[in-house]
Amino acid sequence: MSAPRQASAVATSNIALVKYWGKRDLALNLPATGSISVTLNALETRTTVCFDEDLAADAIRLGGKTTGTERIAAFLDLVRELAGTDSRAAVTSENDFPTGAGLASSASGFAALALACDAALGLGLSTAALSVLARRGSGSAARSLVGGYAEMAAGSAPDGHDAYASPLAPPECLPLALLVAVTTAAPKTVGSTEGMQRTEATSPYHAAWVRSTQGDLDRMRAAILAGDLEQVGTLAEGNALRMHADMLAASPPLLYWNAATVAAMRTVHDLRATGTGAWFTIDAGPQVKVLCAPSDADGVAAALAATAGVEQVLRAAPGPGARLVERVS
Ligand code: PMV
Repeated sequence: MSAPRQASAVATSNIALVKYWGKRDLALNLPATGSISVTLNALETRTTVCFDEDLAADAIRLGGKTTGTERIAAFLDLVRELAGTDSRAAVTSENDFPTGAGLASSASGFAALALACDAALGLGLSTAALSVLARRGSGSAARSLVGGYAEMAAGSAPDGHDAYASPLAPPECLPLALLVAVTTAAPKTVGSTEGMQRTEATSPYHAAWVRSTQGDLDRMRAAILAGDLEQVGTLAEGNALRMHADMLAASPPLLYWNAATVAAMRTVHDLRATGTGAWFTIDAGPQVKVLCAPSDADGVAAALAATAGVEQVLRAAPGPGARLVERVS
């Protein structure tokens, strides 16, 4: 019998500026394309994991609840396989933002969990190996291990060892404000894995979407490294709209937007028409994430808050990657 092994980690959400939507391998959760994201300094998950040989079963609490924990249990099985242990674990995880509503709670959640498991079990995984591990929980989680601007490689190896995120540029390369217009806190109806499968199987635009990504990645990488906000914003908005065109063309269609989503998109276009540099991106949910210069953030946040149906506006900036902390719960 060994003593319980415990660690805590914190990770924040990330927002993809070039999205992935489609998988090359479902079981290993391998993306069909690369993606580029920015890790935030807000929208945080704090997770404590304790592997304890006295536990008869995993004891998982997410936001104080024991429901919806199946994906965490499956992830713990992967970690046990990697570590060569049978030990069950107690996991407590808290988000400081609404979960399951297109705010990528799975990204921060699995990044924090991967790092906490690695530390608790003394696995000593590299950042790349941690990113590979987090990817098994959620594709976008692979990117939250890395701070600032990150690029996720699709990789080509069948086992996925080359599908991980790497640092592209530090936060100061392109200072940004990221405003999240929350249009509902209700959970989304179609999760991203199911949505991707449906799109792959039925959208006549899907091949074109996948094909268009490489050009977006090349242009986005260059724009971030050049610190060109206007180009980054323009590319991010176009990429998100093309992803949604692919989703909308699925059968049955995937319409993640509500009336306030569309209203917030219009607010952003009106801001641009009157000379304020602001651009939106939207994931598999109804929230509108807006990029602008930090000096424009107050005005853009006020315009979003005044938009019909917008419930609240969250503020973030580029931030650090996942990190270990003292026990948090
Ligand atoms: O890996 P998941 O299940 O979090 O899916 C992410 C899908 C998008 O958020 C729409 C795109 C992306 O690259 O983050």
